[in-house]
Amino acid sequence: MRRPFVAANWKMHGRLAVLRSYARALGPYHPTDGPEVVVCPPVPYLRFFAEHLSPSASIALGAQDCSVETDDGAYTGEISAAMLADIGCRWVIVGHSERRHRYGETDAEVAAKFQAAVAAGLSAILCVGETHQERDAGRARAVVLGQLDSVLEAAGPAALEHAVIAYEPVWAIGSGVPATAQAVEDMQGALRLAVTAHGRELAESLRIVYGGSVTPGNAAQFLGQPSVDGALVGGAALDADEFLAIVRAARNP
Ligand code: PGA
Repeated sequence: MRRPFVAANWKMHGRLAVLRSYARALGPYHPTDGPEVVVCPPVPYLRFFAEHLSPSASIALGAQDCSVETDDGAYTGEISAAMLADIGCRWVIVGHSERRHRYGETDAEVAAKFQAAVAAGLSAILCVGETHQERDAGRARAVVLGQLDSVLEAAGPAALEHAVIAYEPVWAIGSGVPATAQAVEDMQGALRLAVTAHGRELAESLRIVYGGSVTPGNAAQFLGQPSVDGALVGGAALDADEFLAIVRAARNP
């Protein structure tokens, strides 16, 4: 049985006042079972969450990105995976489509970040997903599996033991138009099959989640799919009540 996984990606949103109300709402969340929950605020706020949420082992902290650089050095503006681990992060998102498309991150850089994360003892939320044009051209599966392959080639399949894959079609992110549950199931099935080539046990234990306009209203339709092990939530995660509603849906899809 794979434990469901729900992560909040705040992107570049949030201020201390919002964080306080979020911590107040999530602080009392201590289920004895239920999904693994990860909150990924902007880096300046990680410490705040480490202090206010850490008594609750039910919620782990994640960052939204990390450097490809593994050794300390003259890399102005970069934040290493080791630094994130040092301040209490357990997870880091790598390869989010906003990093790939807005900031030009290549598959090779994503793979290097994935390796840096795992080397620092972090677990990675590896985002993969196709654009609208790629889907229209019938290349969705090739693109998504290619993104996975570049990480597998660089890091080796065993590194997936420290990862969750988030399938996030680019066109569904922040658009209010999620993929259909069937399309998500198809792609996630293809991802799991691709991992099976590297080991059945690995594929069966790997959690693959969906992201892209997930809300409390539509979460259950994704979470009810056999291949979907949870959600990566952007916009709806900025509201603690909405995020908790999605967490609860993952508990009882
Ligand atoms: P969204 O973002 O839920 O706002 O679509 C998801 C994501 O970017 O991870």
